[in-house]
Amino acid sequence: MMMVCILAIVGGCAKDNQLICDDSQPLYDQADFPIGVAIALAPFDNNPTYRAVATQQFNRFTAENAFKAESLQPIQGLFQWEAADALVNFSAGTNKSIHGHTLIWHQQLPAWITTFEGDAEAWEQLFKTHIQTVINHFKGRVAAWDVVNEAFNEDGTLRNSIWRQKLGDGYIARAFVYAAEADPDALLFYNDFNLEFNITKRNSVLAHLDNLRKRGIKIDGIGLQMHVGIDYPEPSQIAEALRHVVSHSFRVHISELDVSVNLLGRAIEPTAALFERQADYLGKIVLHYKQIPKQYQYGITFWGVSDRDSWIPAYFGREDYPLLYDESYLPKPAYCKLVDVL
Ligand code: XIL
Repeated sequence: MMMVCILAIVGGCAKDNQLICDDSQPLYDQADFPIGVAIALAPFDNNPTYRAVATQQFNRFTAENAFKAESLQPIQGLFQWEAADALVNFSAGTNKSIHGHTLIWHQQLPAWITTFEGDAEAWEQLFKTHIQTVINHFKGRVAAWDVVNEAFNEDGTLRNSIWRQKLGDGYIARAFVYAAEADPDALLFYNDFNLEFNITKRNSVLAHLDNLRKRGIKIDGIGLQMHVGIDYPEPSQIAEALRHVVSHSFRVHISELDVSVNLLGRAIEPTAALFERQADYLGKIVLHYKQIPKQYQYGITFWGVSDRDSWIPAYFGREDYPLLYDESYLPKPAYCKLVDVL
């Protein structure tokens, strides 16, 4: 779909506080697949502008942290649903779908899990109980889950996470079995980073998941996190990754998209030219995504609303501007480009 930018070039849209393109029409209205965003509860609850932009533009929400084990089960057996429920209920009232992220991961675990001392059976029980209690609680309200997140190393071997140490290599298979048992209708995803360009890792993940499917285990799709940068990887590598995943008949979720303008963490100038490059890069990714067959397009989810909310500066300690909106919640060239290519 084409759209007109009101001012084609401005010297740094954030600073000049000028609207460079019209964002009055929701992104999701212009796409034929869901357009999602990671929601952080603090700004969602406290910043009306954040909440308005998130609600107006996106039709799928992933909780950025609220569905992780440390949030949902901070103490063994004492599940804390309140914050996650508030987001899910809000979503239902505004026609958003929720992508459940994430059931089994090696990070953001509560201390009671990382220090748990029990035998194999006790570990299996803890593992199954977490998966099934969470899925059951949201059944009918959360239609898709990242069942396992980041289980592979860059060299294609299995990450020696606490789950693998305690449960053995078969834990990935069993996580999917337990998930399907709890909600046979939910879409079940494996989610990971760098699959966009690391062929060794991607081959291992695909071989592993193919094997589980051969054993009759339900796996519906793969989340490519897509924390990428304007200089790396090449969009053609991403196109190749998309084709590769589809050739194995997995739906593709671009699940945590952000486009760094400063992957190397240098001192940078956030110029208009830099944001144009970011826009071009994003445009290419989205055009490649549109090339895959419809039935494999689960959707594209951005990992945050605005540059103010991105996890990257805090997590990696670098200056960056990786999202669609600037720090004043004005759409950036990346937003304008997205509308052009959708
Ligand atoms: C990140 C969140 O954005 C941060 O707020 C949090 O401090 C750490 O986790 N891969 C994932 C996401 O699967 O859950 C991570 O989210 C980013 C990397």
